[in-house]
Amino acid sequence: SGGDSGSASGPRDRLPEQVRKDGVLRIGADLTYPPIGFKADGDRPDGLDVDLANALGNVLGLRVQFSDVPFDRLRLGLQAHEYDVVMSGMTDTPQRRDGVDEQARKVNDGVDFLDYFATGTSIVVAGGNPQRIAGLDDLCGRTVAVQRGTTQAGMLERQAGACEKAGRKLTVTETETDEQALALVAQGRAAADLDDAPVAAYAVKNGRAGGKFQLAGEQWQVAPYGIAFSKEDTALRDAVTEALDRLIHSGEYDGILAKWGLS
Ligand code: ARG
Repeated sequence: SGGDSGSASGPRDRLPEQVRKDGVLRIGADLTYPPIGFKADGDRPDGLDVDLANALGNVLGLRVQFSDVPFDRLRLGLQAHEYDVVMSGMTDTPQRRDGVDEQARKVNDGVDFLDYFATGTSIVVAGGNPQRIAGLDDLCGRTVAVQRGTTQAGMLERQAGACEKAGRKLTVTETETDEQALALVAQGRAAADLDDAPVAAYAVKNGRAGGKFQLAGEQWQVAPYGIAFSKEDTALRDAVTEALDRLIHSGEYDGILAKWGLS
C-alpha cells in the first residue's frame, strides 16, 4: 500500500524529493548476522532489520532494496551514497556519531542514528565449553575470533590490553563476516567469538558455520541499535523517525520483535 501518501502531512511528505521520486529506500546491511539480517535460502534478505525495513517502506510508500556489504565498510558506503541508510544491527555509539573511530576517520565524518532496539554482547564458545570460559578475563592467553569493525572488536582490543598487563597475551583474529568467526570456533582454532546477544542465542539454538555452540556467561554492555543516516540527510531521518513512531504505536513493531523472539 502507499501508506500515508494521501494524507496532508504524513511521514512520506518529509522524504527528500529524490527518494520520493525514485520510490526506493536503499539500505546497506551485512547480511551474515541471523536473526538480525541474513540471507534465507542463500539469497533472500530476512531477519529483524529486513522486516522492519519493509514495514517502514510500507508507511513511507517506498520499495526497499538491500545491498549486502561487509560490516566494516557500511559507513563508507553510506557516505559515498551507495545507499540511503544502514540497518545492520549497528550499535549507536558516541564514537560512530562523532566520527572518531577508525572507519569514520576515513571519511572524516560521523553518522546520525535513529535507535530502534537494545541488546548486549555475549561470548559464544564451542558446545561443551571445552576451555571452560566464564567471562572476558578467561580469554587471556587464548585466541579469540571476532567480526572486524564491530563494537565487539573494540571490546577485545581493550581486553587484550588488560590481558597483556596480566602477562597473558590475548590474540584476536578479526574476520570479515561473523560466519567466519563462528567457523574458527567450530574448528577449534579460536576459543570464542563475541556477538550481539540475539545472534549468539540464535547460533546456540540453531548451530551455524558447521558447529554447535553455547554461551559463556551472561550478556553485558546493553546498548541501542540505530538506523544510520548521513548527517546531512536530516529530511530522510525525520521521515523515517516518524514512520518508526507509527509502527511502534500500531503494534507492528512489537509484532516484528515477537516474530524473531526478541521481545
Ligand atoms: N552491534 C555490533 C556493532 O554495532 C555488531 C553488529 C554486527 N552486525 C552485522 N550485521 N554483522 O558493532
